[in-house]
Amino acid sequence: MSKALIAGNWKMNGDRPFASELARAIAASGDLGCEFLLCPPYTSLETVAAALEGSSVALGAQDCHAETSGAFTGDISVEMLRESGCSHVIVGHSERRSGHHETDAIVQAKATAAQTGGLTAVICVGESLAQRESGAALEVVESQVVQSLPEGAETLNTVIAYEPIWAIGSGKIPTLEEISAVHRHIAGVLDREVGDGAGTAIRILYGGSVNAENAKEILACEGVGGALVGGASLKADSFLAIGQSCP
Ligand code: PGA
Repeated sequence: MSKALIAGNWKMNGDRPFASELARAIAASGDLGCEFLLCPPYTSLETVAAALEGSSVALGAQDCHAETSGAFTGDISVEMLRESGCSHVIVGHSERRSGHHETDAIVQAKATAAQTGGLTAVICVGESLAQRESGAALEVVESQVVQSLPEGAETLNTVIAYEPIWAIGSGKIPTLEEISAVHRHIAGVLDREVGDGAGTAIRILYGGSVNAENAKEILACEGVGGALVGGASLKADSFLAIGQSCP
């Protein structure tokens, strides 16, 4: 079993001095027994890359385009992210799926581009509150995983992040049993779709209102291979405390 991955999704927050200071504080923490990944806004990627130099903290972006270059105003390619020092990219975050109308097919194309370009794709999936309440959570998440997963998905180029939409930024989280049930289900889907053992080998992160207080019990849940953290990743002390909570 690999170390837990604690990923910080900074979303559209912070200027470069903020990014540099936060990244330096994470890089200075030494080995806490987990792996850290920081995903700042595009404009801070190179600043954070410089701050992380010589450390084992990885750098990722929050999105990419599926094409390698061309007439795509406002978009960023995988190669551009690599050039900025990224090893990872988040794709299919619910804020992209809802705010930018990204379908599973688009997410899959982006994950495929990431994989082809040598980046690890952090593929986000998760149900809405209505879907959870109607008992469809497992079905929705399964369908998103199956349709968003690129063909050549394997341990090194793929991470799945289970993020119930209603838990993001809300302070609400599913019960620990519910988290385990979804993670077990995703692992089964990966075993079936990718190959036997993939469900254990490919990391499955939990995301949605993870903080320094609840991280320990969430990270101890069966099948949880780390966390994708939004709000609590914007302060070094809370993000490091989450790292320290890894079993
Ligand atoms: P949150 O965000 O930790 O602020 O809930 C998580 C995410 O959107 O990745």
